[in-house]
Formats: sequence, structure tokens, C-alpha cells
Amino acid sequence: MRLVLAGFGVVGQSFARLLLEEEKELAGRYGLVPMVVGIVDRSGWLVDEQGIDVRRALKSKKETGKVSKSANSAGKPADVIRDIEAEVLVEATPTNFKTGEPGFSFMKAAFESKKHVVTCNKGPVSLAYAALHELARHNGVELRFSGAVGGGTPVLDFGKTCSTGDELVGIRGILNGTCNYILTRMEEEGIPFEQALREAQKAGYAEADPSLDIDGYDTAVKLVITANHLLMSRAGINDVKIKGIRGISSKEVLARKEQGKAIRLVASVTRERGLTVQPTVLERGHPLCISGANNAVEFECRYSGPKVIIGKGAGGPETATSLLRDLLEIRGNFNGSAATVPAYGTEVA
Ligand SMILES: NC(=O)c1ccc[n+]([C@@H]2O[C@H](COP(=O)([O-])OP(=O)(O)OC[C@H]3O[C@@H](n4cnc5c(N)ncnc54)[C@H](OP(=O)(O)O)[C@@H]3O)[C@@H](O)[C@H]2O)c1
Repeated sequence: MRLVLAGFGVVGQSFARLLLEEEKELAGRYGLVPMVVGIVDRSGWLVDEQGIDVRRALKSKKETGKVSKSANSAGKPADVIRDIEAEVLVEATPTNFKTGEPGFSFMKAAFESKKHVVTCNKGPVSLAYAALHELARHNGVELRFSGAVGGGTPVLDFGKTCSTGDELVGIRGILNGTCNYILTRMEEEGIPFEQALREAQKAGYAEADPSLDIDGYDTAVKLVITANHLLMSRAGINDVKIKGIRGISSKEVLARKEQGKAIRLVASVTRERGLTVQPTVLERGHPLCISGANNAVEFECRYSGPKVIIGKGAGGPETATSLLRDLLEIRGNFNGSAATVPAYGTEVA
């Protein structure tokens, strides 16, 4: 299976390392022999249709910031992605919540040249969920994005399984590890919000500009993807009522703690009440009342009741496993041939 990697940062490099570390297992257990034929980053691209030496590319990236001294930058990366002979684009460029770029153009180029796409990039998937699926279907290929929600924790796949043979009536969860870390630290140490935020930045959980996390936007985008994927809704970010955790005082957090409760940033969707992201008081023993930078999602099923999945919501090696899981599913579905691809959304007998 020939792969093009777009984005060779924390997740892209972790994915490349995972391919190397699991080489024997992938071949022996799944018959998957991946060959990286292109790597695209901000500085340009390296293409070798005979297969790139991934170890060397990782070393070069570490030492020089480029995948190779001979990396090219003449032309457009989307054209490079379109023209490379490959089966799958593994897309891990930064999330852009407003335009979805550059991921959106890369995915479009991949679909138009009959390549499957696996991605962990929330931007394009949340902005153009239906259009991307339509484009994939039109070209007889697949779009997979399990790493876009929950990092390495298979939230979307678990939700899909819950809804098979049952009906999902609601989903609610903790989808942003940074907010959860901040609230947990405020609760454990009685420290103010600003101090807990600085700790989260120091620990590498929060960005230098953490507003997308603490104002609830990142959670809302993941909720939109989850709702569209699992409840077949056509939601956009403007359909979500959003309130973040900025302004929550340690006094409030400690008062809830005294009552055996805790405040968490909870994303929720039901058909009746729509989509919301807001600080919510939970009983301490509630399965969603998790600590630290974790994620937890509860799926409420009409017949079989609630089910909860908990795990790390981010991290390079963790998120790389989602990309690999998606790749293996594509491999399983298509057995290496795009000719037998069932259309997205069609029922397979
Ligand atoms: N990190 C996580 O824990 C995590 C978890 C879940 C989902 N995600 C998602 O995964 C994606 C990647 O995250 P990351 O942490 O790996 O980010 P990152 O470390 O910043 O890496 C981004 C990569 O994309 C490349 N890039 C940026 N702009 C580009 C452009 N215009 N054209 C081509 N390449 C470009 C960068 O190139 P340079 O190397 O040259 O700068 C870099 O290699 C994001 O969408 C993120 O939301 C990340």
C-alpha cells in the first residue's frame, strides 16, 4: 500500500515511527506492507515512487527541520499529492477551524486522484463533512477520521458499534483534555484558573494561545463531527450553544467538591435539545467525572442503556494508532483494490 504523508509534525512523525516499529506485525498479521512514497511539510516535499527511506527522513527532520536536503518546493503541494502514484493520503496538517486549509485542498486532490484519505484533522471534517464524503464516494474511495475525536481513543468507532442494532438517543462527553486538566487541578489544589492554565501550558497540554480550548470551541468542533457521524445530523459550528470554562472560580469548584460533585466541560447532543457545550456539575462517581487530560464519552442507547469510553484524548503516538487503525480498515474493506469500493452510506449485503 503506497502512502503519501501530508504533515510531518508530532502526529505525522509518530505515525512514521509506528509503521517502522510494527513493520513485521503489519505484514504478518494483516498482510499490510506500507510504502511511503511522498512526505509533504511546510518546507516542501520529498517524493520517491520506489519508497522513501522513512528512518532517514525522520533523522533529517529532527536534525534540519526538513525531510530531506533535496526536498522540493517548486509548485503546489496539492498538485504533488494529486500526481503521486499512491493508494492513501495520510493527512496530519494543522487544524484550521475557519478554512480547513491546507488539509481541505490536500484531501480534495487525493480524492480526485482516487486516493483514500485517513486524517486526524478536525478542520476540514467539521467544516465540510458532507462535501468530503460526497467527493470520496464520487471517486470510489473512502474518508476515515477516527483520530479527529479522542486522539487514540476510538470514540467514533465505539459510538458506531453502540448504534449498530440499537438506536443512539444522546451523546455527551468530555472532549477536551486541556479543560479537564485545568478543572481537575483547580479542584485538587484549590488554585485559581489562571494558575491551572499556566500549569497546563507548561505540561504541554495547552497552546500558547489556549482560547480555542478554554472557550469551548475545540470541544464544539469535535461535537459537530461526532453528531454528524453518529446521528446523521448536518450540524455546523453555528448550531452549537457554546460556553467555555473561562471565568470559573476556584471558590465555585471547591464548593462543588464539598458537595461531592465536580464541574466538567461537557459536550452534549440529543435530537430534542440540539448541541451544547457548557460547564456542567457532575456527581463525583459519575463515569464522565474523569481526572487530568483524559476524554470520556457516554453513548445513551434506547434499548441497551448508557455506555462509556474513557482514554487519553491526544498525544502523537496515541493519535498515530488511530491513523493506522483507519488504514487497516481501508485495507480490510478494499483488500488493496479501489475497484471494489462500496459507496459511503450504501448498505452492504
Ligand atoms: N498532537 C495531538 O495530540 C493531536 C491529537 C489529535 C488530533 N491532532 C490533529 O493532528 C493534526 C497534526 O497535529 P500535530 O500535533 O502533528 O501538529 P504539528 O506538530 O504542528 O505538525 C503539523 C505538520 O503539518 C505541516 N504543515 C503545516 N502547514 C502546512 C502546509 N501549509 N503545507 C504542508 N504541510 C504543512 C508542518 O510542517 P513543518 O514540520 O514544516 O512545520 C508539520 O509537519 C492537527 O490537525 C491536529 O489537530 C493532533
